[in-house]
Amino acid sequence: MKNLFTLILSVLVVAPAFAAKVPMPSDMPKSYEAECASCHMAYPPGLLSEKSWQNVMSGLNKHFGTDASLDAKDQKEISVWLQNNAATKKKYNVVAPENRITKTSWFIREHDEIKADVWKRAGVKSPANCGACHTTAAEGIFSEKSISIPAK
Ligand code: HEC
Ligand code: HEC
Repeated sequence: MKNLFTLILSVLVVAPAFAAKVPMPSDMPKSYEAECASCHMAYPPGLLSEKSWQNVMSGLNKHFGTDASLDAKDQKEISVWLQNNAATKKKYNVVAPENRITKTSWFIREHDEIKADVWKRAGVKSPANCGACHTTAAEGIFSEKSISIPAK
């Protein structure tokens, strides 16, 4: 019995690592699209841990060289929603260096075959620009089948 339990448990734990799907929760507040998707895509909350979202949201006045501050109502609504929907998959549930998805060890590992000059192509601009290569990034699907790297 114990072995069967261990087997089932290991299947449950291992399986999500292969599923590169982090869908946008259906209860996304309008404020998230309006306030957090004008400079870059609306990142699915499941890509960052609760702690990292807390860090992102508490430093919006100094947000990667810009000021992304919000009024109190949006600040609260977005913070609560991001943290409620933060990463549960073990792979993504880490405290991200510099509050960046793109600085996590899983991100670096998954992208280690991409050469430095590719990230700088005009069609890519930045590792944070997921949708440049992952054609279905907006739906939170990052599987191999939907990758198309801009040639320049
Ligand atoms: C005024 C523009 C602007 C707004 C508004 C904005 N951001 Fe950003 N954000 C940036 C820039 C610039 C970067 C760095 C992008 C890069 O490195 O290419 C960034 C990066 C990020 C990253 C890290 C991406 C990575 O490298 O993994 C997260 C997470 C993020 N933003 C979340 C948010 C959230 C949540 C909101 C809404 C509360 C928001 N942003 C609103 C400009 C903005
Ligand atoms: C320059 C193009 C490019 C950009 C930009 C990019 N990726 Fe990727 N991504 C790839 C490639 C290529 C792979 C590797 C596919 C493989 O080897 O299976 C990959 C793999 C992945 C995987 C693993 C897929 C799997 O099947 O397990 C995830 C998850 C992922 N990327 C998420 C992201 C996120 C989130 C962003 C933005 C923060 C991003 N990527 C930005 C090109 C890119």
